[in-house]
Amino acid sequence: MIYFDNAATGGFKPDGVVSATTAALKHSANPGRSGHKLSLACLERVYATRKLLCTFFGAYGYDRVIFTKNCTEALNIAILGTFKAGDEVITTVAEHNSVLRPLEYLKGKGVTVSYAPLTCEGEVDCDALINSVTPKTRAVVVTLASNVTGTMPDIKKIKSAIPEGCLLICDGAQACGHFEINMKEAGIDALAVAGHKGMLGIQGSGALLFSERINPAPVLFGGTGSESYNLNMPDFYPDALESGTLSYPAIISLGEGTLYLMQNLQQSREKVENFTAYLCGTLSKIKGVKLYSKPNPCGIVSFALGFMQSEEVASVLSEKYGICVRGGLHCAPLMHKALQSDGLVRVSVSSFNSMQECEFFVQKIKELCN
Ligand code: ALA
Repeated sequence: MIYFDNAATGGFKPDGVVSATTAALKHSANPGRSGHKLSLACLERVYATRKLLCTFFGAYGYDRVIFTKNCTEALNIAILGTFKAGDEVITTVAEHNSVLRPLEYLKGKGVTVSYAPLTCEGEVDCDALINSVTPKTRAVVVTLASNVTGTMPDIKKIKSAIPEGCLLICDGAQACGHFEINMKEAGIDALAVAGHKGMLGIQGSGALLFSERINPAPVLFGGTGSESYNLNMPDFYPDALESGTLSYPAIISLGEGTLYLMQNLQQSREKVENFTAYLCGTLSKIKGVKLYSKPNPCGIVSFALGFMQSEEVASVLSEKYGICVRGGLHCAPLMHKALQSDGLVRVSVSSFNSMQECEFFVQKIKELCN
């Protein structure tokens, strides 16, 4: 099998992630709930992982690192926990439904939402975004990399043009673990992280990291192991945003993935950029292929075949050749609309893939087109 669906879920885990997660499953207690030795040991490791993520992402303090079950949950906390009636928010058509749906929901509660378009090259139109910012704009919510094409908005340009008081909230689902992100340097106020993609952890892992400028209110209520007498949620982080039992094995997997990346990020990035450069270069030369991506560090290369629906291409590749790619709309409807596409074949590679696999893939697309 050739696994080219790493943007949906990373298909390869470093040995350290597998062994640490297995050990966590074998020796799991509830971190932060009981005072016995195993519970305390788990709690310590959870805190060590907060510190690790805080360092890795140049964030603002480990108490402002919240564990979630995925990037969607992190984005929902950042969006639903922050905006209120009267707020003005600017986002882009390149966003995933995990940004679009909470924002569209908030429109019904009196929040104004506007969408920056794409340029004719299929990139987020940062100038249009910047031009639509007003002194009243509360936040810009933007993906660091599109899950459809891998295009990466110019965050530096956006940050330097928006007013000081305007929050910058970033969806890091397809970016985290693929290139260096330093929140303080980039001026990112909130970063939503998927644990199971580029970060190399397991499904059920994710995080939200945020600055002192943004104080999301809880969107989920329940036990935290702290202030158990209090009928309201604790008013301090991380507890205010972490009700219910944490997924200890998932957090451990995310921590181990982060440790791996601390050693290997640069090398992995170069491999992934080479793969996407090869795929873009060769696919663009095949008659019948319409390419929607440029070489990128996120591993995403999307294209369409004029004569076959994307889902059908994905299904043929899977059934005939054991190649796993994603077809269809990729949960980003406005992006497809802007690209005038009714579905794309998305190849998403990781540094654990090989050039031989990329070559085999291109060969099979050539055969299909012939
Ligand atoms: N959001 C994930 C993707 O793009 C699942 O495939």
